[in-house]
Amino acid sequence: MKLALVGDGKMNRAIAQLAVERGHVIHTVITGGENRSAEALTASRLQGADVAIEFTRPERAADNLLALAALRLPTVTGTTGWLDRLPEVARAMATHRSALLHSPNFSVGVQLYLRAARDLARQFAGRTAFDAYVVESHHAAKRDAPSGTGLALQAALRSGDAARDFPITSVRGGHVPGTHEVCYDAPFETIRFSHEARGRQVFAAGALLAAEWLAGREGVFTFDQMLFGEAP
Ligand SMILES: NC(=O)c1ccc[n+]([C@@H]2O[C@H](COP(=O)([O-])OP(=O)(O)OC[C@H]3O[C@@H](n4cnc5c(N)ncnc54)[C@H](OP(=O)(O)O)[C@@H]3O)[C@@H](O)[C@H]2O)c1
Repeated sequence: MKLALVGDGKMNRAIAQLAVERGHVIHTVITGGENRSAEALTASRLQGADVAIEFTRPERAADNLLALAALRLPTVTGTTGWLDRLPEVARAMATHRSALLHSPNFSVGVQLYLRAARDLARQFAGRTAFDAYVVESHHAAKRDAPSGTGLALQAALRSGDAARDFPITSVRGGHVPGTHEVCYDAPFETIRFSHEARGRQVFAAGALLAAEWLAGREGVFTFDQMLFGEAP
């Protein structure tokens, strides 16, 4: 595939490295400096690309996705913190008959973890001796809090046990690529169920898998739908 990378940060650099190892071609890389308001996302710049992969900033993603919809370039985005604009972006995808796959987390392990967390919440439902909460930790440069995966984890837990809130505590520091933990705590015992990413490669591999899957499709999809068919 010929890939257009929108964003030149940590994630898209990891994706570029893996993509080349897998025989894909980096058609173009669009940087933050040249694309503050999506002005670099033009037909001439993107002509010949099969799929765009967008990893930028929470406040920039939706405008990029609207421009990519108008160009009818299938797009995978992993940017977090923009889902309040999903209805607008989904309408644009439908109007232009384009394709989008979005996920706050492209680790297959995390997608399985979210499903297992929902089942865990079902087991603990009604056990009021246990207090339940989520802790998520990321590197100091992460801009959004709670993390998109933390919010997805909270939603998965609430779908297993609607009586609890599952409040999220966010820790920011160092170089942590992403750790999420569900805790159930009673006076004399504690249960911790966690997922820990050891590197960005896991997200890069998932995003590339999604790009390969999305080429030639039309509509708005999540990574979860791609992996498991139906939504959880
Ligand atoms: N879904 C997943 O699996 C997953 C995994 C890891 C991270 N993420 C999320 O992915 C996003 C990016 O993460 P990252 O670690 O790569 O961040 P990063 O290292 O800060 O990189 C973001 C890059 O995007 C550039 N940028 C900003 N606005 C842009 C625009 N309009 N067009 C093109 N490029 C633009 C920035 O350039 P400037 O500095 O010049 O603005 C920067 O180089 C974050 O929202 C993060 O939470 C998702």
